[in-house]
Amino acid sequence: MKKYPNDLIQMKGVKPISVLTAYTCPVARGIEEACVPVILVGDTVGMVEMGFESTREVTIEHMEYHIGAVRRGAKNTHVIGDLPYQTDKDPETALNNAKRLISAGADSIKLEGAKIDVIAHLVANKISVVGHTGLLPQTAKNFKKVGNSDAEAKKILAESKAIQDAGAFMVVLEHIPYSLATSISQLLHIPTIGIGAGPGCDGQVLVINDALGLGDYWPPFSKQYAHISRDIIKVAKEFSKEVESMEFPNNIIQLSGACKS
Ligand code: KIV
Ligand code: NA
Repeated sequence: MKKYPNDLIQMKGVKPISVLTAYTCPVARGIEEACVPVILVGDTVGMVEMGFESTREVTIEHMEYHIGAVRRGAKNTHVIGDLPYQTDKDPETALNNAKRLISAGADSIKLEGAKIDVIAHLVANKISVVGHTGLLPQTAKNFKKVGNSDAEAKKILAESKAIQDAGAFMVVLEHIPYSLATSISQLLHIPTIGIGAGPGCDGQVLVINDALGLGDYWPPFSKQYAHISRDIIKVAKEFSKEVESMEFPNNIIQLSGACKS
């Protein structure tokens, strides 16, 4: 059954919340089949699927395309859509763009930073909002951990609180010291979802490509549960060898029930 913001808030302190990103229909279908409660269609799509150097190249049209694909694959899972760079630059722009992502299939939207007036405006217009603080890839100069100094840590803590008070129902904490993430999680009544923020968060998110081992780089705080990049090379080599030796298509084997368990 699909989880709504209130269901996710109620999971805080009861059950850790798992979140995976997805960008395509078959991957979303698999995540829903596995009963993961939340899918994030992140603007990481720009880096891990589109080959851009940063998430700043991602447009609202890209996000609509991927959110639509994910929704068609996972009809009963809570889907969060990321507002890409600059599409949330002021409250009215953010509302128009958030409405586009909701129309494309998102249940809620996520935006980076303590843009309090933007969050409040979206919430006032019945858009469910997920906040995001700590490392902010859309504006960061590099991907190093943030919040190491006392001053920085205080700022991130205050921002998390302000994001909650503006009406967000959940907040992503990215790449901050574990102790800071724990303090924030204890302070807030909404769930915190960590990425590179340690075990003190109310949930964890991984970029699906990192979890699948699909790509040529993954951050040190991610875990590879498979190594799909290797499988792609293996499949491509085997196929081309069989075409050249004229074994394929004489040796077709079909997997049965490949998708449904
Ligand atoms: O775009 C994304 O995938 C994200 C996660 C890293 C939280 O924002
Ligand atoms: Na993002």
